[in-house]
Amino acid sequence: MSSTSADEHPGLGKGLGRLQGRVAIVTGANSGIGRATARLLAREGAKVVCCDIQETVTPRVDSLIEQDGGQAIFLRSDVTLQNDCDRMISTALERFGDLDILFNNAGGGVRKKIHEFTDEEWNFVINLNLTAIFRGVRAAIPHFLRKGRGNIVNTASTFGILASAQYPAYCATKAAVVNLTRQMALDYGTSGIRINCVCPGATETPRFRGYPPRPTLDRATDEQRARMASSNRALQRMARPEEIAYGVLFLVSDESSFVTGHALVIDGGQTIDA
Ligand SMILES: NC(=O)c1ccc[n+]([C@@H]2O[C@H](COP(=O)([O-])OP(=O)(O)OC[C@H]3O[C@@H](n4cnc5c(N)ncnc54)[C@H](O)[C@@H]3O)[C@@H](O)[C@H]2O)c1
Repeated sequence: MSSTSADEHPGLGKGLGRLQGRVAIVTGANSGIGRATARLLAREGAKVVCCDIQETVTPRVDSLIEQDGGQAIFLRSDVTLQNDCDRMISTALERFGDLDILFNNAGGGVRKKIHEFTDEEWNFVINLNLTAIFRGVRAAIPHFLRKGRGNIVNTASTFGILASAQYPAYCATKAAVVNLTRQMALDYGTSGIRINCVCPGATETPRFRGYPPRPTLDRATDEQRARMASSNRALQRMARPEEIAYGVLFLVSDESSFVTGHALVIDGGQTIDA
């Protein structure tokens, strides 16, 4: 897999050098939205620290980036652990000499009604989708403050704005990510740090991971995909991960220099539908 013609992300165009000289961390980088975004940021010139808890999806994202002519390293890390978040930052600084962009993207959920949740399942979702963002931001901010500049994007969801049946912890955490993003943008704006989030709608990725976390990713069934696609009455399809990646690129690039605290909905019209 060495050219864009046989590529798993045919929607990624050639880079325009928007992120030349920048260093980015992407979490959840070896699958789905994180994988497409890591590749796009690298095509735009960024050196990317690709962080993921699993390397079972092959080829690993850093090798895809290198095949594209970009620079990346893979760091096996668990975003729910503060030590691993600290190591993401120190790896960027040691290996690439700087850090400009943090994309807090790893996430997942457990589908069941709230009375069926165990404490472990509930805490798993809270830790992965919300506390991990606290940990990642806490690790990165001191460097951004010293530098007087920094850019953070968090992955929320349309389920941070709307509710989805049998998804209580996921909906609660994604709504929290939207407002935590706004809150942090207020605290750090005058320090040169912009903080935004993306709210993807249903996106064709191998997610659907539950608790306990599995070392391999499940693919959605054709029936699940068809249901999710047809529930979007505007475009009647799911997003490709590249379509979310381009939203992230906008937010981390200088073209969005007056955008902060924003929740960028990329949902093919899902949330306009009453
Ligand atoms: N796919 C969708 O329809 C959709 C819609 C809205 C929001 N999102 C959000 O987008 C983000 C990415 O989802 P995706 O669909 O690309 O999923 P995915 O499962 O394809 O990719 C997620 C990646 O995160 C990694 N990961 C999981 N736990 C981790 C941990 N503790 N530490 C480090 N890495 C970890 C996984 O190994 C995987 O590679 C998530 O936050 C998800 O909630 C997805």
